[in-house]
Amino acid sequence: MTPNAVDVIKAKRDGGRLTDEQIDWVVARYIEGAVAEEQMSALAMAIVLRGMDAAETARWTQAMIDSGDRLDLTVGVDLGGRPLVDKHSTGGVGDKITLPLAPLVAACGAAVPQLSGRGLGHTGGTLDKLESIPGWRATLSTEEMLAQLEDVGAVICAAGAALAPADKKLYALRDVTGTVEAIPLIASSIMSKKIAEGTGALVLDVKVGSGAFMKNLADATELARALVSIGVEHGLRISAVLTDMSVPLGRAVGNAVEVAESIEVLKGGGPADVVELTVALAREMLSLAGLSDVDPAEVLASGKAYETWCRMIAAQGGDPEATLPAAKHVEVVEAVEDGVLIGLDAYAVGVAAWRLGAGRARKEDPVQHAAGVMCLAKPGDTVHKGQPLLELRTDTPELLAAARDALAGGIVIGDAPREPKPLIIDTLRG
Ligand code: URA
Repeated sequence: MTPNAVDVIKAKRDGGRLTDEQIDWVVARYIEGAVAEEQMSALAMAIVLRGMDAAETARWTQAMIDSGDRLDLTVGVDLGGRPLVDKHSTGGVGDKITLPLAPLVAACGAAVPQLSGRGLGHTGGTLDKLESIPGWRATLSTEEMLAQLEDVGAVICAAGAALAPADKKLYALRDVTGTVEAIPLIASSIMSKKIAEGTGALVLDVKVGSGAFMKNLADATELARALVSIGVEHGLRISAVLTDMSVPLGRAVGNAVEVAESIEVLKGGGPADVVELTVALAREMLSLAGLSDVDPAEVLASGKAYETWCRMIAAQGGDPEATLPAAKHVEVVEAVEDGVLIGLDAYAVGVAAWRLGAGRARKEDPVQHAAGVMCLAKPGDTVHKGQPLLELRTDTPELLAAARDALAGGIVIGDAPREPKPLIIDTLRG
C-alpha cells in the first residue's frame, strides 16, 4: 500500500518505527510539494519527541542524499595523488577553525573540499566571514571548484542548491517550527550534505557547551555517535572530536575580526586555543587521509599554510593583502570589580556579536562585515575594576544597547581561578 502523510505522522507520533518505504516516500513527496509544509512540520515534531533509531536515521539520510545530485570528486579531476578529506563543525561562537585548517591540511598534501554555509542565529557562518575579504566570491561552478581543488588543494565555497535539496527545505522549516534540536534530524542533515559532496574522509568537530547546539556532554556524545555511524554505513573514513564550546574560541567573534585572527594563526601567531584546535583537527584529518607522517604543527610554522591561504583566497577573486573592514563604532565593556575572570559565556558573547550586526535573524538579511566582539580577557585572567574586558564593534551604534543586554550574566568575576576545562574532550573513531 502506498504510504500517506497522515499515517506516517501518526506512526511516529505513537512511537512506532518508520519503514524504509515510508521514509523514502515522505522525503521525496515533500520535495515535490505533495507532502505539505504543515505535514512535514508535524512529522519533524513527532521525530523530536519520539526519536528515530540508527536504521531509520541512515535511511532518512539516504533519502535526503537521493533528493539531489551527488558530486564525484574523483572523476574528471587530477588531484595528483592528494587524498580527499573534509571537516565539519556543528557550530560555535568564534569558531573560525575552517579558515586556517583548510589551507593547512592542503599544505600538508591532502585535498580539502569545504562546502560551507552561512550563519543563522548566534553561530557565525564560514562564508559570511570570508566575504569580509574584498573581492572574495563564495559561489563557484562545479568546474571552478574542481579546478581550484586541483591547483591549490583547498576550496571553501557555497554548497550548490542541487546538493541534498531536501535538507535545505527541511532545515528552513525546522528553523521556524522549533524542531532543530533532534539528534537524528541534525545528524542526517549534516551527513546528507557531506556524503553528497563526495568526500572520502571526514572529521567532525562536535561542539559541547552553552554556545553549541548540544549543551551537555551526554547529548553531544550521542550526536557524535549518530554522525559516525551514518558515515561508516556510507563507507566514509570518519571521526568525531568532541570540543568545548562553553567559552568563545579565540578572542575574535564576528566576520572580519575572525578572518584577521585566522591570518594571525596562519602566520605563526594567534590565540593558543585556536592554534591547538587547528593542529589537532589537522592531525585527525591527515590520519584519516593516510598522511599521518606529516606534522601539521611543523607545516604551520613553515609558512606554507599561509602561502596556500593566499592562493586559495586569490583563486576566488579575493585580495589576501587587502585591509579588512573596520567598525565605525567601538565600545568597551569593563570589569566591574577586581578578581579573576571565571566565566565568559559563549552563548552570551555569540548573541552580542549577532545583535551588533555580525549575524542575521532571517536567511535573507545582510551581515555587517566589521561587526563583532573582541574578547580582551579570557577565563583565568586576573582583572581589575575598570579594565576593558570586551570590545563591542558595530557600524550601527543603536545596536550597542541590545548587545550589552545580551551580555548580562555572561561575564563572571570571582576570587580564585577555576580549573580550566579541556578544549578537546574526546575523539570517537569510526
Ligand atoms: N547543522 C546542519 O547542517 N543541520 C542541522 O540540523 C544542524 C546543524
